[in-house]
Amino acid sequence: MEFRSNKPEETKNLGIKLADIIKNNNNYFSQIILLTGDLGAGKTVFAKGLAEGLELDVNITSPTFNLINEYEGHPGLIHMDFYRLDKKEELIQIGFEEYLNMEAVKAIEWPQLAFDYLGDEFIFIKITNLNENEREIIIEAEGKKSQNILKGLNKYGNTWD
Ligand SMILES: Nc1ncnc2c1ncn2[C@@H]1O[C@H](COP(=O)(O)OP(=O)(O)OP(=O)(O)O)[C@@H](O)[C@H]1O
Ligand SMILES: [Mg+2]
Repeated sequence: MEFRSNKPEETKNLGIKLADIIKNNNNYFSQIILLTGDLGAGKTVFAKGLAEGLELDVNITSPTFNLINEYEGHPGLIHMDFYRLDKKEELIQIGFEEYLNMEAVKAIEWPQLAFDYLGDEFIFIKITNLNENEREIIIEAEGKKSQNILKGLNKYGNTWD
């Protein structure tokens, strides 16, 4: 699926919709969502939408320095950012596999080092800067559950509100 976002609120709204679908079906509670795109693309903005759609009463901040932020909920959200990591071994040291096994939505910024550990279910989001406020957002699904979630997103149609 492909979207165009013209302002941060639109990117956030897409995250809200995706999280809404996940929250409404407990089969989706462990969903992995990979967020890729350059610095400042809007990955954290999207993750804020996920938190809002999951109805977590939190003001999420970028995990660039602490790498993993965990928010409780039903389901909760584990927000990760591996920009600062260099090696796969470091992922294991910070307990990445344990986090993966938790029942919570996992949103991972800069997920490149994590690919080997992911398994066969994930949603892949790529945000591209077109200009200062415009973004292209491509969303793809790997695995049956993830594909079903995207079908749900498709039913929302291409509107932002
Ligand atoms: N259409 C848009 N969607 C998302 N963000 C936008 C948009 N237009 C402008 N922005 C701005 O772009 C910035 C995106 O920042 P954000 O922290 O989400 O990026 P990021 O992809 O998480 O970067 P990093 O790799 O550094 O973590 C924000 O300042 C936001 O206001
Ligand atoms: Mg970020």
